[in-house]
Amino acid sequence: MRVAIFGTGYVGLVTGTCLAEVGNDVICVDVDALKVARLERGEIPIFEPGLSPLVIDNHAAGRLHFTTDAESAIAHGEIIFIAVGTPPDEDGSADLSHVLDVARTIGRTLQRPAVIVNKSTVPVGTADRVRDTIAAELAGRGVDVQFDVVSNPEFLKEGDAVQDCMRPDRIIIGSDSARAITALRTLYAPFNRNHDRLVLMDVRSAELTKYAANAMLATKISFMNEIANIAERVGADVEQVRLGIGSDPRIGYHFIYPGAGYGGSCFPKDVKALEHIARSQGYEPRVLSAVEATNAAQKERLFELLGSYFEAQLKGRTIALWGLAFKPNTDDMREAPSRTLLEQLWNAGARVRAYDPEAHDEVRRIYGMREDLQLCDSQYQALEGADALVVVTEWKAFRSPDLGRIRELLATPVIFDGRNIFDPQAIESAGLAYYGIGRGRSV
Ligand code: UGA
Repeated sequence: MRVAIFGTGYVGLVTGTCLAEVGNDVICVDVDALKVARLERGEIPIFEPGLSPLVIDNHAAGRLHFTTDAESAIAHGEIIFIAVGTPPDEDGSADLSHVLDVARTIGRTLQRPAVIVNKSTVPVGTADRVRDTIAAELAGRGVDVQFDVVSNPEFLKEGDAVQDCMRPDRIIIGSDSARAITALRTLYAPFNRNHDRLVLMDVRSAELTKYAANAMLATKISFMNEIANIAERVGADVEQVRLGIGSDPRIGYHFIYPGAGYGGSCFPKDVKALEHIARSQGYEPRVLSAVEATNAAQKERLFELLGSYFEAQLKGRTIALWGLAFKPNTDDMREAPSRTLLEQLWNAGARVRAYDPEAHDEVRRIYGMREDLQLCDSQYQALEGADALVVVTEWKAFRSPDLGRIRELLATPVIFDGRNIFDPQAIESAGLAYYGIGRGRSV
């Protein structure tokens, strides 16, 4: 099929590439000419495992194109995806200006019937606004072209994005148009094998499903972080509690890992946006507010532990950080818990030596060059002369470290494990003090 995709961020680029990979003819549009030029040269602006070779191969095969020319992309697309950003406004609500800009552009140039698919995470009712915007532009031009607006939220995870796109656990389609549903069923057929993963519903339910999914996952994490904080105070180990409750299939093992708080471009933004949606309808969302407040407090937990251990004397100390990205397998630093810790440490007068396998460029872009931040070439180099090691992101390479070497390199033999990746006894047997999140050891 002929597909046009507006927005070459995570969602747009991954979706476009996977659709090209299964044989569709895809044009990706972005307003950022520099980004488009880089993509045309095969340079991928994000670190996402498996994505780069797919973009290069499909581009070389002539199935995947990048352009700033919206009009030609609209002329090309039988199916037109909107996958542009919806950054939070000051008040936490989703900023729809990019989505509605695309809708206006479509309305100004659409010549023949098309299915418009909204993949961006948008407040309930946005598909209706997109439809009205396109219809108003068409009416202004005095043309009558049939089009449908469908909500088809995306559920890909950074780090697993290609896999999630190629093997989705569900494909939500919010539409009341048989024609649009048939078109999307055909488009997604290569990803919808073995059993039917299409879940059909009305447009508004599809829009709310996206927020509900992210808010539920964020709730599980904040709940578990709260249990961890209780465990710490009562001398219990939250990791054992996690296994104990996860074995109940009604609870499940997924997304109950306590840690330094959730980050990324989705959970923090979407929880706030859903709160805003609820309040705009005169409903006070108590659970969502608590989820967000718990997470904000959890992001400060590692600094609190360090402060207690060093009796608030952090000025002049050097702290080693392993991991900066908001989670492994990405270079994304948006809302990363490491940022809260870095900023708190700097404010307290500490210096940081840090290592992350992918995020150094992002960290430099955000914070520039600073005297109190040394980005190191290896995880061990980060430890040289440091007063403590703090694990902030659970990259695989951190899981089985040389404990003897850590003991030798650290000036003070103590590890703060912000992701509970280590066995406390193994660390202590190696002569290092250990503090995790909710592991029954108070500082
Ligand atoms: C999330 C959702 O998982 C995707 O389904 C969704 O499509 C995406 O948002 C989106 O809306 O676009 P993502 O933000 O890439 O994906 O990352 P996650 O793997 O969900 O992790 C989010 C945060 O939660 C990370 O900071 C992670 O460290 C934290 N987390 C996750 C925990 O603290 N504990 C857990 O048990 C799981």
